[in-house]
Amino acid sequence: MAQLIGRSRRHEGTLNKAITIHSFKGGTGKSNLSANTALNLAKRGWNVALLDFDFRAPSLNALFQLNGVEYYINDWLAQRCELPEVLIDFSDQFKTKGRFYIGFTNPTAAAINEMTMYSLNEEWQARVLQLVLDGRDLLFERYGVNFEIFDTSPGFALSSINAILAADELMIVIKMDQLDIVGTKHLIKGVYNQTLGKRPKLIVNKVPCSMLESTEDYHRLKEKLSQHLGIEVISIIPCFCEVMENMSQSLFIEKAPEHQFSQSIDQLASHFEMAN
Ligand SMILES: Nc1ncnc2c1ncn2[C@@H]1O[C@H](COP(=O)(O)OP(=O)(O)OP(=O)(O)O)[C@@H](O)[C@H]1O
Ligand SMILES: [Mg+2]
Repeated sequence: MAQLIGRSRRHEGTLNKAITIHSFKGGTGKSNLSANTALNLAKRGWNVALLDFDFRAPSLNALFQLNGVEYYINDWLAQRCELPEVLIDFSDQFKTKGRFYIGFTNPTAAAINEMTMYSLNEEWQARVLQLVLDGRDLLFERYGVNFEIFDTSPGFALSSINAILAADELMIVIKMDQLDIVGTKHLIKGVYNQTLGKRPKLIVNKVPCSMLESTEDYHRLKEKLSQHLGIEVISIIPCFCEVMENMSQSLFIEKAPEHQFSQSIDQLASHFEMAN
């Protein structure tokens, strides 16, 4: 592992995209989907920065089995360091063609408390938004990053709102659960569209296999949810016992590259490349 400063691999294209993965309910699969898709994009040759913006329940440290770093995203936002000092280069570990950088969030109780206290302060949030926007430009312009991917807290956390405001593409992940579908509808209309002026796209994850027995089932479900929520459905991903059994102990696409879940991740990465 090495720090980002002074290192970059330029991809031939000039693609620069900030993508935020959010949800109404917790546990929809945001962290697993963002981490696996980020890795897939880096393997394709893009330079990717994956940032953990879940300050209430940081996850990427566990997914990447990391035991402490010098600087966390918390330190960058509290202006104790610069963004490049937070990023750790995993390109060699995962043998990616592009650079694969990750910014971790401090999972200790003290750090979570500190972020909770700060987050109530409007001035702090405004300053954080500016830092996030400047950080995005810095990564794109000085470090050749093609994709900046934010994994966020579910619901109305202000830190998630900042990541949503900085996004070129906003992805919302839902489970097939009425509580999630109803809440997501309110989130889309009342927050994303009206307050933030964003049009999210939908990823439906952990769909019971009994609901997806034929190709027609896929199309029907896609159409139904798209109509009901008024947004484009870009992916429908079944619920796989193998993914659950992996217990987020590693990146699933590394472990089982041929599995149908890994194919869904590949399609998601293609969508991120194409979408504008
Ligand atoms: N398609 C899938 N099939 C089966 N299990 C899945 C699938 N996608 C994710 N999971 C599992 O769901 C659980 C929650 O995933 P994850 O932590 O990525 O969700 P999250 O949205 O980031 O949660 P939180 O809102 O708490 O941050 C994990 O155990 C993960 O392995
Ligand atoms: Mg998560």
